[in-house]
Amino acid sequence: MGYKVVVVGATGNVGREMLNILEERAFPVDEIAALASRRSLGTEVSFGDKTLKTQDLDAFDFTGWDIALFAIGSDATKKYAPVAAKAGCIVIDNSSLYRYDPDVPLVVPEVNPEAVEGYSKKNIIANPNCSTAQMVVALKPLHDRAKIKRVVVSTYQSVSGSGKDGMDELWDQTKAVYNPTDEVAPKVYPKQIAFNVIPHIDVFLEDGSTKEEWKMVAETKKIVDSSIKVTATCVRVPVFVGHAEAINIETEEFLDEDEARDILREAPGIMVVDKREDGGYVTPVECVGDFATFISRIRQDSTIENGLNFWCVSDNLRKGAALNAVQIAETLGNRVLKKV
Ligand SMILES: NC(=O)c1ccc[n+]([C@@H]2O[C@H](COP(=O)([O-])OP(=O)(O)OC[C@H]3O[C@@H](n4cnc5c(N)ncnc54)[C@H](OP(=O)(O)O)[C@@H]3O)[C@@H](O)[C@H]2O)c1
Repeated sequence: MGYKVVVVGATGNVGREMLNILEERAFPVDEIAALASRRSLGTEVSFGDKTLKTQDLDAFDFTGWDIALFAIGSDATKKYAPVAAKAGCIVIDNSSLYRYDPDVPLVVPEVNPEAVEGYSKKNIIANPNCSTAQMVVALKPLHDRAKIKRVVVSTYQSVSGSGKDGMDELWDQTKAVYNPTDEVAPKVYPKQIAFNVIPHIDVFLEDGSTKEEWKMVAETKKIVDSSIKVTATCVRVPVFVGHAEAINIETEEFLDEDEARDILREAPGIMVVDKREDGGYVTPVECVGDFATFISRIRQDSTIENGLNFWCVSDNLRKGAALNAVQIAETLGNRVLKKV
């Protein structure tokens, strides 16, 4: 006996990765349905060596299905997630809609797996923002040892974080740089993204920060510890897949860089690649298609008493979205549903 699983947004970047990862991790699937908008009705998507025809979300009946992995925008999620949840299907949602709802657990299985048990208030579990997910996997084991007081993070986020349209815009603008008659005006991004970096992701808030930066603050508090102070600067870079982060932490207790390296080596979901030589660190192109969050450049911050710097890289479509969602489904299966 396995699970009846629905992938919602199956034609998108995250939805396609969800199908790949369910298969790669041999998630016990009895039956699977791939849904998207009516525009994509009949579009074929791969699930292992099978081909699935995409169905229309609007016409789908969730009754009798166990788990729905949602990867559509917040507006469509607002309309359809409650329908699935009401039909008894547990929603694992990738949009930001439910992340800050006190009745919805926000889960990164390496950090707070027990939180899945709170799913039943709304029949919904939220997946964090891509930048938060990879960061908290690294923060948690260090916090357990030395209690993190403050985090200063700068992100270098790839265009796949803005969906298919963001990837197309980078591709088209890059080609147009060599062929100026094909110039492509910014549409997804407020400025040219090809050969550029943009210190602006999501909308501006009253205090001058952006919503993306606020998400990293609020989500770290909800997932790891509400006492941790976080300040973030989120930047879009012309990379297709893979987010990088320069992270500085200040801890209550002193944590030596060698001990931090050993702790991270043992931590779930983490691979440490940290040689102090040319190329002895991981960059976004090397993490694509991997499950791990990679940590490099671990070093003491000598400007404060108890400080460390490190570099954190992960595939944003995987740990930042699809992998984390499938891991939540696995945790839910093992702890709650127990069908297998
Ligand atoms: N990319 C990331 O790194 C990342 C990380 C964390 C969370 N997320 C979140 O995950 C969600 C999906 O992101 P993505 O990057 O996969 O976007 P995407 O590549 O643009 O794909 C969007 C998907 O949503 C479907 N969709 C849109 N509106 C719909 C509607 N009204 N009804 C049914 N299906 C609809 C699309 O179907 P059609 O093809 O039929 O239009 C497509 O399958 C977003 O909420 C995003 O914020 C993304």
